[in-house]
Amino acid sequence: MDREKIIVIDFGGQYNQLVARRVRECSVYCEIYSYRTDLKQIKAMKPKGIILTGGPNSCYEEGAPSCGEELFDLGVPVLGLCYGAQLMMHVLGGHVCKAPVREYGRVEVMVDTSTKLFHDVTPLTVCWMSHNDYIKKMASGFRMIAHTADCPVAAAQNTSRNLYAIQFHPEVLHTVEGAKILHNFVYDICGCVGDWRMDSFVETSVQAIRRKVGQGKVLCALSGGVDSSVAAVLLSRAVGSQLTCVFVDHGLLRKNEGDEVEEVFGPNGPYDLHFIRVNAQERFYRKLAGVAEPEEKRKIIGEEFIRVFEEEAKKIGKVDFLVQGTIYPDVVESGLGGESAVIKSHHNVGGLPDYVDFKEIIEPLRDLFKDEVRRVGLELGIPEKLVFRQPFPGPGLGIRIIGDVTEEKVKMVQEADAIYREEMAAAGLDRLPDQYFAALTNMRSVGVMGDERTYDYAIALRAVNTVDFMTAEASQIPWEVLQRVTNRIVNEVSHVNRVLYDITSKPPGTVEFE
Ligand code: XMP
Repeated sequence: MDREKIIVIDFGGQYNQLVARRVRECSVYCEIYSYRTDLKQIKAMKPKGIILTGGPNSCYEEGAPSCGEELFDLGVPVLGLCYGAQLMMHVLGGHVCKAPVREYGRVEVMVDTSTKLFHDVTPLTVCWMSHNDYIKKMASGFRMIAHTADCPVAAAQNTSRNLYAIQFHPEVLHTVEGAKILHNFVYDICGCVGDWRMDSFVETSVQAIRRKVGQGKVLCALSGGVDSSVAAVLLSRAVGSQLTCVFVDHGLLRKNEGDEVEEVFGPNGPYDLHFIRVNAQERFYRKLAGVAEPEEKRKIIGEEFIRVFEEEAKKIGKVDFLVQGTIYPDVVESGLGGESAVIKSHHNVGGLPDYVDFKEIIEPLRDLFKDEVRRVGLELGIPEKLVFRQPFPGPGLGIRIIGDVTEEKVKMVQEADAIYREEMAAAGLDRLPDQYFAALTNMRSVGVMGDERTYDYAIALRAVNTVDFMTAEASQIPWEVLQRVTNRIVNEVSHVNRVLYDITSKPPGTVEFE
């Protein structure tokens, strides 16, 4: 039987991946497609329901993202959110225009709790609004089912056609009962039963991988990050020692990280696979000597990585399959799924590396969001420490050292970073920021140590909260913790005499410190 599916049609809003995540949190599988996707294709996927997302445009302006009226005649329930709600009304003959009062932020919404959509929701509920336009007149056949002081149609329904429109954003956590509203839509309106579960994902993936791989040989580049680790364990569960994992230690990892990866995946670890660790530190340091420009460092590290990996792959001989830890946001952000404006250059989706001789690529996590990958990791028994590891860039500490990279500087930043992580864990804060780390500024300045004058480096500490890493805010780390980290770094790490905390948001800053 086919897995039931909800389709999110993306009109370019910033919360669109969140919509799909929230639906999956209801145990219902969900995929994102651009509004440009052919309606025939959408229909062929036999969705149980369709959700139209928010977006930055005004639906009545020329050239604004739109959809055909036929979308509402598929016989599939449709829920429009914000822009999606306005577009539904606009296309079906209602009137949308600039609102006399722009609503932004938390707003109290009065909802009709006798409707299926707002079943069990409190009559006066706090929701997140962000709109300049509003629905002035509903399309015919619709009834208003929620309003606010400034917004006469905060939600509307046409039950005979199974169409629903919501002006606010149920997908963001500030909408206190948003999860309940989406749950009502997918279960009570679309009739989903909730067949999306991580244990069954593991079971079905293992079976599918076995069928695909047969007796073939599989190669995986293991970085020690969450995605490649989970992919490797899934493959090892499916085909055991037909899998070879190559782990390149480029000398730009965090303190002890190489050994930690080896402990889990190496011959003394619990998994059945061939593990090859390549200690290529010297090679990378040599190539990086004297290079200060961050993009050039990235390029050198990337190319050298490929070369090392290629040499190892040649030793193994012909392999049949190459494993990649691509996950769903990579697919969407590469423009293959939704309408995301920002395309990250370091995501290698669909591009097949030509330096290894193989038949086919396997991407077992291609349909999963990060939190689902983590759940699969736990399901597979991977240690929590690894499963909840924070994101770490491929070029590693190479882009956390401003200016040229040397072995001594790598040691400094490794030590400082380890202290920072230790103290954050001791304070119970290690899972709070989405990413945090120490970096080495290229600044040296005068200090005093005992009776001596010093002229040493400054370490920068960074910690950010973010939903999608496209924008981020600096985390408010308690002063005492920052003080403890600072004291320990200046006392324990030689050649560091100052510690700075970076409170810049992104934009205008970036997450990394390079
Ligand atoms: P920025 O610094 O671009 O970081 O705000 C956003 C997220 O992307 C990660 N990042 C990278 N990851 N290779 C990677 O694999 C890279 O070159 C790279 N640059 C940034 C960064 O760690 C953060 O999570």
